[in-house]
Amino acid sequence: MTYTKIVGTGRYLPERILTNFDLEKMVDTTDEWIRTRTGVERRHVVAAEQTTSDMCVEAAKIAIDDAGIKVTDIDMVLVGTTSPDLIFPNCATLVQHRLGIPACPAIGMEAACTSFIYALTTADKFIKAGEAKCALVIGAECISKLVDWTDRNTCVLFGDGAGAVIVRPSEEPGIVATHLGADGQYKDLLYYPVGASKDLHKAGTDQASIMMTGNEVFKVAVKTLGNVATEVLAKAGIHQDELDWLVPHQANIRIIQATAKRLDLPLEKVILTVQDHGNTSAASVPMALDVGRRDGRIKPGQLVLMEAFGGGFTWGSVLLRM
Ligand code: COA
Repeated sequence: MTYTKIVGTGRYLPERILTNFDLEKMVDTTDEWIRTRTGVERRHVVAAEQTTSDMCVEAAKIAIDDAGIKVTDIDMVLVGTTSPDLIFPNCATLVQHRLGIPACPAIGMEAACTSFIYALTTADKFIKAGEAKCALVIGAECISKLVDWTDRNTCVLFGDGAGAVIVRPSEEPGIVATHLGADGQYKDLLYYPVGASKDLHKAGTDQASIMMTGNEVFKVAVKTLGNVATEVLAKAGIHQDELDWLVPHQANIRIIQATAKRLDLPLEKVILTVQDHGNTSAASVPMALDVGRRDGRIKPGQLVLMEAFGGGFTWGSVLLRM
């Protein structure tokens, strides 16, 4: 049987760091409120001229180097993002060209914070079908450019970054199970009000920003993420006790704690980056995976559960052996 194996990872975080204390000077908030309600202490924010594809390219170079492959080995590029440089061409196409990757499928995936999990799951299916031999899969986000920096309800939560993985076919596991879902009935709880075919040129739309009913999002996220984790374990016939690591979407420490509790996992088995990165949407899971691998906690052969939840709502999980 062919499995899809992660053979390299990388991440890029913009240079500029915005701490909670910096935010105290911008909106009516406190470090204490942000830390206790969300777990976030600081986040990275792009420079004005920096774009999502800029961050993707940097994260991808590190993952390519880590995997010990050449750009010419890559035969598929997937970029999960909600903040692409352009409406078209898609971000994956820009990344493919900038890295000098030969002509191949270049797919943009948009599922809000779940975009990377959607992209990795898609790559897994192509690899298992024999349609791809080496895929570059990225989750990246310039979410700071979608945020109203005068709205304390949202601006304290988010950050920018990019995480990349290289996946290849392997006889050894590998991704053992995936699970994706969505329910559009919740679209009004978390959304961006302007798009290519809606109000793009209407006066005042340059003032548009993320709209969120935070406490309602919180409740659905806690319920859904618990289910997402247990469903993928059931699909693989694996008991939660066998898990070595949970690599969750880093939206809020309290949501992560609730998911870990549902899995009976101590927080020592959870890779946490929310304190340093904030919620980087599509970038949060691949960046957390890279953090855990590079600091030596996540080791080859260990069982890892990645999961995410985002606007739509969308959700998904990937269970894999490193
Ligand atoms: N600083 C200080 N006070 C703030 C604040 C801030 N940055 N943001 C909101 N508040 C205030 C509110 O105005 C409200 O005040 P009020 O009681 O006087 O009306 C109070 O804090 C409580 O607001 P509430 O929204 O009920 O707080 P909460 O405990 O639900 O925490 C979130 C707010 C946003 C942190 C939390 O709901 C959350 O994390 N939700 C999920 C968001 C998310 O993950 N989105 C992305 C999903 S991928």
